[in-house]
Amino acid sequence: MEKNFKNLTMMSWSDRWPNAMPLSNSNPEPFTAAELSELTGQDWLALPLNDLDYQTAQGDPNLRSDMAQQWYPKCQPNDVMLCAGAQEALFIAFQTLVKSGEHVVCFTPAFEPLILMPEQIGARVTKLPLGSNWEIDFNALEDALKDHAKLLVLNFPHNPTGAHISIEILEEIIQLCEKYGVWVLSDEVFRGLEHNKNDRLPAVANIYPQAVSLGVMSKAFALPAIRLGWLVCQDKNTYQQMLEIKNHLSICVSGLDVAFMKKMVPFDELIWQRSVDLTNQNKKLLQKALINHPTFHCQMGTASATCFIGCQNDQIWTASLAQNHQLKLLPGFCFATEKQGFRLSLGQKNFKQTMDTWLNYSV
Ligand SMILES: Cc1ncc(COP(=O)(O)O)c(C=O)c1O
Repeated sequence: MEKNFKNLTMMSWSDRWPNAMPLSNSNPEPFTAAELSELTGQDWLALPLNDLDYQTAQGDPNLRSDMAQQWYPKCQPNDVMLCAGAQEALFIAFQTLVKSGEHVVCFTPAFEPLILMPEQIGARVTKLPLGSNWEIDFNALEDALKDHAKLLVLNFPHNPTGAHISIEILEEIIQLCEKYGVWVLSDEVFRGLEHNKNDRLPAVANIYPQAVSLGVMSKAFALPAIRLGWLVCQDKNTYQQMLEIKNHLSICVSGLDVAFMKKMVPFDELIWQRSVDLTNQNKKLLQKALINHPTFHCQMGTASATCFIGCQNDQIWTASLAQNHQLKLLPGFCFATEKQGFRLSLGQKNFKQTMDTWLNYSV
């Protein structure tokens, strides 16, 4: 029987070595409750949760109000919707914004669902490769947008490269989208992980009314156990359509997760900074190790907790490393790119030990 949903390449690759240690995670080292308590001075096990009922479909109004005020100041609490992770949020957004036969534009390398989800709806997806410094080719972008594009997918800070764009570049992109009437789906799950805080961009939904922005607890907050993501959109019809799709999926999120997140929002900067510090430390180690390295090279990014390391024969090399050292890296084809290389997590505490192993491994 033909399948309705293709498996993600990164999942089928990963499943080949179920016991190998993953070195490609895009989330920074997850917090423990003890580490969170030490950092914030709060008791994270004492959650104020009396009401064990279903949540509303949009999600807790007080939490949405705090989120709008703190992260989306031009948006209203009713522009925010809680979802079961960013993955559900993406699914809902694509199902709302894209129909079969429509044209979607996305940069590569890419987090694979950003391409597979619209393709599975039956959309035509133009993949625009980022340049050797992970820069955007504006001529190619304009050509693609003017070809009746319905949606541009953005993901800055970028997975897998860690590349980021300036506010000037973002404004230029939005001007082009305005010119051609193109919607933007902006996956901002790494917002907060800029290596220099001054590089933080406004959420796209905050500055462009034909946009949906997306966030999650698993990445910048380093809390994948809290299965909460969210969508933000100022357009009422789009928001309503997204809500109706959500009724077919999770319906509402977990009240336990919400109780946790409510306590977390006031500590956002502190929590993000812990992972940025870890990433910057590891980035320095890696940069030093790669100077004049004969096999590996990297155009290092300025945000998020991953980078994309270039190397030859990426699939053969990563498969052999997994087989012989039980260390698992995701090669280029998992990110819809022909560039040879692999995504490396920069946000792990054991970075130095594992780096010494893979750096010295040759097939
Ligand atoms: C860019 C991007 N968006 C969305 C997601 C999905 O996040 P989650 O798995 O927490 O739902 C990921 C996860 O890796 C991601 O990297």
